[in-house]
Amino acid sequence: MTDFTLPELDYDYSALEPHISARIMELHHSKHHQTYVTGANTALEKLAEAREKGDYATTPKLLKDLQFNLGGHTNHSIFWKNLSPEGQERPEGELAAAIDEYFGSFEAFQQQFTSAALTIQGSGWAILAYEPVGGNVVIEQFYDQQNGVPVGTIPLLMLDMWEHAFYLDYQNVKPDYVKAFWNIINWSDVAARLEAARSGASKLITP
Ligand SMILES: [Fe+2]
Repeated sequence: MTDFTLPELDYDYSALEPHISARIMELHHSKHHQTYVTGANTALEKLAEAREKGDYATTPKLLKDLQFNLGGHTNHSIFWKNLSPEGQERPEGELAAAIDEYFGSFEAFQQQFTSAALTIQGSGWAILAYEPVGGNVVIEQFYDQQNGVPVGTIPLLMLDMWEHAFYLDYQNVKPDYVKAFWNIINWSDVAARLEAARSGASKLITP
């Protein structure tokens, strides 16, 4: 069994300033993300122990712990890659074409994504995802670290809307955080995820 580990960032904690401060990045990566990694490893260990003992009374709770913490680990691992100090203003190529086709224009996509991010009730994520059954790109509201997305949709771009992601910089002014996000998106990473989703993993889902 392989333990989960905290991935290194491709940039310094201060690299996303002024859009996201070094203090937030340091806490978010070294504390919050680390907690999910540790939690996912602990849940797996405890599940193995429970199986050895034949103690299945504890496994439903441990499965919930695993879903939450592994969700947190996966989500943040994608989020860090989606960001870049050299953020591009908008996507190009096939990703740009897909966004135009399914949302009408980049501006319409941006507005719908922003609206999804700002109306999450509680903690969660706004996501641009590839939906393999219809072959569309879609926007999703994702709750906590693990709830509310159909099986098989593949995240391309994720925005963390938990308060830990923005509160030190933006307090309650969420729209300014979302506005800042548009300046630091690594659209090349998002495009590579769409290409991989279309060519590979989606074959496992498509009826
Ligand atoms: Fe987070």
